[in-house]
Amino acid sequence: MKTIHTLLFQDARDLKEIPSESVDLIVTSPPYPMIEMWDEMFSRQNPGIQKALACGDGKQVYALMHEVLDAVWREVFRVLKDGRFACINIGDATRKVQDDFCLYPNHARILNSLLNIGFSALPDILWRKQANTPNKFMGSGMLPAGAYVTLEHEYILIVRKGSKREFKTEDEKQNRRESALFWEERNIWYSDVWTDIKGTGQRLPKAMSRLRSAAFPFDLAYRLINMYSVKGDVILDPFLGTGTTTAAAMTSGRNSIGVEIDESFQHAIRPVASHIVDFSNDYLQDRLLRHFGFIENRIQTSKPLKYTNRHYGCPVVTSQEQFILLNGLKDVHTRENNIFEVVYSTKPQAWNFDQPPETLVRKKEKSYTKSFQLNMVDAQ
Ligand SMILES: C[S@@+](CC[C@H](N)C(=O)[O-])C[C@H]1O[C@@H](n2cnc3c(N)ncnc32)[C@H](O)[C@@H]1O
Repeated sequence: MKTIHTLLFQDARDLKEIPSESVDLIVTSPPYPMIEMWDEMFSRQNPGIQKALACGDGKQVYALMHEVLDAVWREVFRVLKDGRFACINIGDATRKVQDDFCLYPNHARILNSLLNIGFSALPDILWRKQANTPNKFMGSGMLPAGAYVTLEHEYILIVRKGSKREFKTEDEKQNRRESALFWEERNIWYSDVWTDIKGTGQRLPKAMSRLRSAAFPFDLAYRLINMYSVKGDVILDPFLGTGTTTAAAMTSGRNSIGVEIDESFQHAIRPVASHIVDFSNDYLQDRLLRHFGFIENRIQTSKPLKYTNRHYGCPVVTSQEQFILLNGLKDVHTRENNIFEVVYSTKPQAWNFDQPPETLVRKKEKSYTKSFQLNMVDAQ
């Protein structure tokens, strides 16, 4: 089993390199309109934005920034296959332009655009970030009728192109079963409010520190990929940034295409490839260990479970979990400039639920929550 990962350093408003109807899932987070750190990036793509900013015309700035994104959403619609999903992480913005302070509802504006293009909306996810700083008082503090609530959530908009995806052949059905989630994961991942994923703590080279707060966490991309695609699918991120979606696709056994306008991000993305084998195998092992922990607890507190996973010999709650197989990574090769190939094991790790080896027993004592920790700085 192999997957291919392509990086394209170009403007995602024109994706002619990617054929129509060739992509299975979009996972992305655009630059957020009306967040100051992106003013320059948007202005480079439409100089009218700089002029509107200079005139203090907030509504016009907002409209023009979204026009830049609209062009990307149209390309996203074109390249997606029928029955496939797009998951877009976006936050709203509050901003004072001249004397006018207001909320710019980016999520509503983008959803509207997606519907106009032809997507169907599905229930979205509210990502309530665990804030690193305690609540700040905004506006008039303790005095009523002048304060406003703090913005501590973002959205993950979920839309679909066309009708429901079908899995027709026996191979497609088996691949879908092997790509399934554990029952206890499903209950958390398919909830419409996510509270257990922290904002990213990624360390980046100093020159890229502006992206520190903009990269989404590995867990977020990994979850979405595993919820809305199957192994072997092609995942596209048109706003790749530091390469989180590429890394999550590699860990998940999916192919990927990442598009990034700013070529200097190569320095952040390349180290992902050199660390991904160890990182992914650790991450997948932790995922299994979390399942083992859940099962041990469940067996102690309730009846024995009826089903067994064929690959790991561990009990599972439902028949749909019997074939789950987390493919470990064996190797990663650079095929040509900006194209990577990942080779996977098609067998489960040589340990199972009844006889976990010593290393796993020790690992079990560690926290089961792991986040993306590729150390970008050391890898330079
Ligand atoms: C919010 S960041 C994405 C962060 C990414 N999810 C991560 O985890 O690192 C948005 C990215 O979109 C890029 N970008 C902005 N406009 C673009 C365009 N027209 N085409 C391609 N990339 C663009 C920016 O350079 C930035 O890296």
